[in-house]
Amino acid sequence: MKGVVLAGGLGTRLYPLTRVTNKHLLPIYDKPMIYYPIETLVRAGIEQILIVTGGNNAGEFLRLLGNGRQFGLRHINYTYQEGEGGIADALKLAEYFADQDKIVVILGDNILEKDITDDVKSFAAQREGAKILLREVSDPGRFGVAEVQGDKVVNIVEKPLVPKTNLAVVGVYMYDHKVFDFVKKLVPSDRGELEITDVNNAYIKKGQMTYNILSGWWTDAGTFESLFRANKLIAEKKLKS
Ligand code: G1P
Repeated sequence: MKGVVLAGGLGTRLYPLTRVTNKHLLPIYDKPMIYYPIETLVRAGIEQILIVTGGNNAGEFLRLLGNGRQFGLRHINYTYQEGEGGIADALKLAEYFADQDKIVVILGDNILEKDITDDVKSFAAQREGAKILLREVSDPGRFGVAEVQGDKVVNIVEKPLVPKTNLAVVGVYMYDHKVFDFVKKLVPSDRGELEITDVNNAYIKKGQMTYNILSGWWTDAGTFESLFRANKLIAEKKLKS
């Protein structure tokens, strides 16, 4: 399985912090944000990784990550997203890299306490379709929110005003090669972006979306509040160990 880290976008929710740099280069305690999703993939045994960047200072990713040796990788791949088309638009750029393989996609601002090795293993054994990770949160309206029945996800609503459950969709998505057919058919949402939730709902319609409940804490870092929380959680983890 191959890994894709989505680290594009303008990060406007963090202005002025992101006016001259890319959100994913901001510090989370003692490392740049993008280190954490890369480490999550590497710990899950993924050796081939594509970084999709965009916006400001894209060249700095190369300076920072180089050939990936500090993560124990032999090589790291890069591509560049033009404009601000959203998560699913960025994913389109991974088609050539994926080359029919299954992929694990992780959002560059998602930080997970525990590793996802078992989730990746169970998806490797899944014949086809997709798998997402869900976690109970106290503020589901900030996320994609899932409804489940048995081992299947039956619906996801992006940032609902009245969430039906408190199961947030974590920014880690496992897909088979069909994902690239689905992204090509998407139309922009009200916020003018191609939404990953629409990709996930396409799998749900086919009855091919499974899920695991994530253990350990998880946070994104795309707002001042969540960026601060991410720093605090990592600092506490580091000081404990
Ligand atoms: C995105 C997704 C959302 C998901 C979240 C996880 O939201 O659209 O479904 O729950 O990432 O971090 P965004 O950060 O673009 O608002």
